[in-house]
Amino acid sequence: MNKNVNIDWSKLDFSYIKTDLRYVSKWKDGKWDEGSLIESNTITLSEASTALHYGQQCFEGLKAYRRKDGKIQLFRPDQNAKRMINSCRRILMPEFPVENFVNACIDVVKANEAYIPPYGTYGSLYLRPFIIGVGDNLGVRPAPEFIFSVFCSPVGAYFKGGMVPVNFNVSDYDRAAPNGTGGAKVGGNYAASMLSHENAVKEGFADSIYLDPATHTKIEEVGAANFFGITKDNKFITPKSPSILPSITKYSLLYIAKEYLHLEVEERDVYIDEIDEFKEAGACGTAAVISPIGGIYYKDKLHVFHSETEVGPITKKLYDTLIGIQFGDVPAPEGWVVEI
Ligand SMILES: Cc1ncc(COP(=O)(O)O)c(C=O)c1O
Repeated sequence: MNKNVNIDWSKLDFSYIKTDLRYVSKWKDGKWDEGSLIESNTITLSEASTALHYGQQCFEGLKAYRRKDGKIQLFRPDQNAKRMINSCRRILMPEFPVENFVNACIDVVKANEAYIPPYGTYGSLYLRPFIIGVGDNLGVRPAPEFIFSVFCSPVGAYFKGGMVPVNFNVSDYDRAAPNGTGGAKVGGNYAASMLSHENAVKEGFADSIYLDPATHTKIEEVGAANFFGITKDNKFITPKSPSILPSITKYSLLYIAKEYLHLEVEERDVYIDEIDEFKEAGACGTAAVISPIGGIYYKDKLHVFHSETEVGPITKKLYDTLIGIQFGDVPAPEGWVVEI
């Protein structure tokens, strides 16, 4: 595509920028329609839509990357498609098939190619697929109609000028309930986290760690990211719980730690009282890939891992390997990248 867009790639952050086209498909009378790319970035819907009142909606987040050879690739879009199906099952929405999901993402990337940041800027094109319950409905029940859409926005490198560790406190609130919707990517979880985030920032922290909602003894999530720690004997540990959102970045790091860095890996309970067993820790997710955790403020003390100012060596290796795969500089495991 030869179109030029007027964007200063070096100034991009994680903000919405309207792009040219988005994909929309509608579900009615038991089936999804063909779907198409449209120009309008607004949606008109019934005031009685379940998405507005009862939180019947879910979403995803993934990125398209520009490689050194100029080609474009998506990172594990099938995993986002499958996670969205799980979210739909949890809140009674129709599933959008994996293949159609991946094709919709490809169509949106192709149609907005001019907005993909150049290789070397570490920016990418963020894709936001979502499904909302729409149509006239009053009682608490699944919507009569649904909209699936994918829009995109160019986003900048999370770390400009090197990775910087950040500190977290421990939230007094829960973002999820035992047997609730924590494992699904539904909007209500995020609404439930906003107050905690704001309080954490007011106190000088990047965000809050959420503990398991039943006993408040185990680490679950770090803001809107998963937690991992490196033990003093070099094991990659990450918490396991049904109320954690299964992070695609986390499962990719688990694989990289084992197969590329030859570390022992374990998914298990991580007790907040035992965080001093870690010599490095990080928060992982699509947006930042990895945010090194400087320290966690817990029981009136900042528990520092590697350093408050420097990223630890294993965290750095994990990060470099993963972004190497995402930008096409490091060979990817079979099926991880979809070349467009
Ligand atoms: C609550 C929560 N945890 C973890 C993650 C990280 O998941 P992923 O690596 O798939 O982006 C996200 C972001 O999607 C999230 O919203």
